[in-house]
Amino acid sequence: MSAPPELPELVVRALRMSLLQGYVQASRTETGRLLATLAATRTGTIAECGTGCGVGAAWLRSGAPKATRVITAELDPQLAHGVITMFADDDIDVMHADWSSLAQHAPFSLIFMDATSAKGWPREEIISLIDEGGMVVLDDFTPCPTWPPLDHGRVDTLRLDWLSDDRFTTVDVMVADDTSVLVAVKK
Ligand SMILES: C[S@@+](CC[C@H](N)C(=O)[O-])C[C@H]1O[C@@H](n2cnc3c(N)ncnc32)[C@H](O)[C@@H]1O
Repeated sequence: MSAPPELPELVVRALRMSLLQGYVQASRTETGRLLATLAATRTGTIAECGTGCGVGAAWLRSGAPKATRVITAELDPQLAHGVITMFADDDIDVMHADWSSLAQHAPFSLIFMDATSAKGWPREEIISLIDEGGMVVLDDFTPCPTWPPLDHGRVDTLRLDWLSDDRFTTVDVMVADDTSVLVAVKK
């Protein structure tokens, strides 16, 4: 992918924390660049389900306009409190909580569903959390040129359902040879 090698300082800090903690689930840089670009178009509140070591939140904050709020929730206490400390002065609100607690801060202009339980959450409930024109972002899909989309030889029903839901305009973006990201915009 053509992109400048330099990373935003916030992202570098979060990646350093991932390295120190031996945390391997951090968002990839290709996904992060997409998150930052989408965030750049947003006003209001951006939410992330599953903070990890803060890499996704760092990309979202790096891209979002100053007045846009970024809020993220993490269930694991050690991770959550580590990121709260790391981002204490960075205008990122970190909650140590189940991601469903984010609902009290809805509606969202973008929600990044990056915890396994969030990814499979009923779309009816997700739709109630976002503004008209709001975006839902889901990552870590295996790129697939066929319809219906397949994953390891089986129909990828999660991706199929998102791509077929008439309440959203959705695209499957291949951000690298081996990974794709769904971006669904509420009509
Ligand atoms: C894929 S990782 C997140 C990576 C992070 N968003 C990033 O961009 O680097 C998923 C995270 O979700 C957290 N998690 C799992 N279940 C959760 C829940 N119910 N509520 C909040 N966080 C949860 C896990 O502890 C894990 O750190």
